[in-house]
Amino acid sequence: MNALSTLVFTNELPPAKKLGEELLLIYDQILAQKSPVFKKWSQSIALKYAVKAGEHLKDIEKFPGHIKAITKLTEQTSVKKLTVVVVGGGSVGDFGGFVASVLKRGVRLIHIPSTWLAAIDSAHGGKTALNVGGAKNQIGTFHPADQILMVRSVLMAQPEARAFEGFGELVKIALIQGGKLWADLAKEKQVNSKVLWKHLQAAVQAKYKVVAKDPHEKKGIRHVLNLGHTVGHVLESYYELPHGIAINYGLDFALRFSVQMKIMKPAELNRIYNEPVMGFLLSPLRDDLISVKSSDLNEYRRLLLNDKKKTKAATLRFVFVAKPGKTVIKEVSVDDLLIELCRQREEELHG
Ligand SMILES: NC(=O)c1ccc[n+]([C@@H]2O[C@H](COP(=O)([O-])OP(=O)(O)OC[C@H]3O[C@@H](n4cnc5c(N)ncnc54)[C@H](O)[C@@H]3O)[C@@H](O)[C@H]2O)c1
Ligand SMILES: [Zn+2]
Repeated sequence: MNALSTLVFTNELPPAKKLGEELLLIYDQILAQKSPVFKKWSQSIALKYAVKAGEHLKDIEKFPGHIKAITKLTEQTSVKKLTVVVVGGGSVGDFGGFVASVLKRGVRLIHIPSTWLAAIDSAHGGKTALNVGGAKNQIGTFHPADQILMVRSVLMAQPEARAFEGFGELVKIALIQGGKLWADLAKEKQVNSKVLWKHLQAAVQAKYKVVAKDPHEKKGIRHVLNLGHTVGHVLESYYELPHGIAINYGLDFALRFSVQMKIMKPAELNRIYNEPVMGFLLSPLRDDLISVKSSDLNEYRRLLLNDKKKTKAATLRFVFVAKPGKTVIKEVSVDDLLIELCRQREEELHG
């Protein structure tokens, strides 16, 4: 199966009939409320399934109900003609992609991401996922979309505050790729929708460069895309932060840990943090937000080991940065990671 999708960057939603012969639209219900343009467009599609976005949508317990309803909706369609069109953020994309991969043993899929996080990251690379027993992404399939449409008017309809949620993923991929993408992004003096749209194409191409080398995640190459995510996921669960915001902190942790491990030179870290764009990585509330107390550590440890990227019992494959464009993956023990969390906290408090 081809892991690379056709990418389309466009200002407006294309006429539905151009997307396929028979369409099933799976979409975030919020779009019909917030966007009159989407609402009008969706009326041209007969088969529709509205969902409420969020982690509960990916809950395996709810899946039988969804798939029964969707099977009924599509009972008159032929597997050859059917295309599932998913419009939404990452949760709707993970759910809708999974549906497309199992419905009638797999049908054609088109993603139209409606959040920055989905446009920059989650819609690309073919991974679908459901959650099991509250643990994220425990089951899933590889089912790359045939096409991914980045529609400017859909993405721009998000509240400006959401730009920060996609921003971490943009910084992540720019640090992995280095070169022009990092140089261009680093100079930005603002983070807003216009800036994200400007860098979107280069960011997506950078992700594809990694995915293309390891489409089914068999060689460990895609692991580099977890930069910032080891600690990011812990903070996301522990402080119930939006994914993108947690990743910002996870990236900061990874950069500073890289210096501590002598993988990055201190001068390089200074250079990175002196770039205008890095002023937006961390919230001014950081001290209140992330205050590691010794009582938290057991819970952090549990969350780190639950993370599916664990390898042996108490070690993890951690993605370090030597400099923009050069990442290094090393096994680290969970204990060393917790010690580093405390060390960084002390450094913040006492300089
Ligand atoms: N498959 C992958 O490779 C991959 C990669 C990264 C993240 N993910 C998954 O992505 C999910 C997070 O993505 P997300 O933050 O986009 O999630 P989401 O789908 O929950 O969207 C976040 C919020 O934005 C709202 N929203 C969506 N589009 C909007 C719009 N245009 N205007 C206003 N509000 C809008 C949603 O209703 C929701 O409240 C997680 O479940 C994560 O596991 C998957
Ligand atoms: Zn992410």
